[in-house]
Amino acid sequence: MTDVHGRTAFITGGGNGIGLGMARSFARAGARLALADIDAAALERAKAELQGITAVETFELDVRDRAAYAAVADAAEQALGPVSLLFNNAGVIYAETAAKLSYELWDWALGINLGGVINGVQTFLPRMARRGGGGHIVNTASGAGLAAMGNGVLYITAKFAVVGMAESLHAELAPAGIGVSVLCPGPVATDIIHRSADATPRSGVHLTAEQERRRSERRELISRVLHERGAGIDAVGAMVLQAVQNNRLYIHTDRIMEEPIKARTQALLDAMPL
Ligand SMILES: NC(=O)c1ccc[n+]([C@@H]2O[C@H](COP(=O)([O-])OP(=O)(O)OC[C@H]3O[C@@H](n4cnc5c(N)ncnc54)[C@H](O)[C@@H]3O)[C@@H](O)[C@H]2O)c1
Repeated sequence: MTDVHGRTAFITGGGNGIGLGMARSFARAGARLALADIDAAALERAKAELQGITAVETFELDVRDRAAYAAVADAAEQALGPVSLLFNNAGVIYAETAAKLSYELWDWALGINLGGVINGVQTFLPRMARRGGGGHIVNTASGAGLAAMGNGVLYITAKFAVVGMAESLHAELAPAGIGVSVLCPGPVATDIIHRSADATPRSGVHLTAEQERRRSERRELISRVLHERGAGIDAVGAMVLQAVQNNRLYIHTDRIMEEPIKARTQALLDAMPL
């Protein structure tokens, strides 16, 4: 899609971080904005910031709630016109060794990071396809969706699925003029670590005071690294705009995953029978 001007963009997790960065860049390019998030205060801030540039509507929505999602989609389209730019971006991160996970943690993390993306596609794709006129879907995955590293099975499982979904949809929807991209960021300067920790269901996690203290220290450290070395949200927003305009499938924000991707690809090839 070369021109996003005048189109309506629906962005989940649009109140903070990467979602806000994308909202800014698409607003400047002339798209109208429907921002959906569970963080009402962030939505209010984003609207105050962006309504001078374009039409903005905000919606409190938990992307896991399918009925609410459909109602919000109706309200957004009534206010702003048909949504033809969809950003399935809301996400949370939680790193834990596999043996310490619970069903509750799996349901929470997969429900948002994968279920939320499915719900976005299931809500809006039939509308886009029915209307014709093309469109574009951007799913936010992660570098962690391209090669597995560390104690992140909960996150990695969802993000690999999001990458696979985007690859499949990219091929399938091209004839309908609906582009699909998957954003696979390296570190980005956001508060995802703290926001996710605050939202983590407590009942599935049993920590001593000492373990809680060490965990909190580790979160501080990782968050500081994201802010000191991560890409800025506006730079990421600009990369996504360019990728949509050029209908590119993969969006990387840096080259951090180069070696892990090479190693994974080589291991896959090496495992094939001669
Ligand atoms: N920040 C990074 O380094 C990084 C790296 C790779 C991938 N990502 C991915 O980028 C996406 C955005 O992350 P971010 O770093 O901007 O984080 P962020 O915390 O700044 O923004 C995420 C937004 O999603 C919202 N959200 C969380 N749960 C929700 C739910 N159930 N329903 C609706 N909204 C919900 C939050 O309120 C928040 O506004 C996520 O999918 C994340 O996995 C981030």
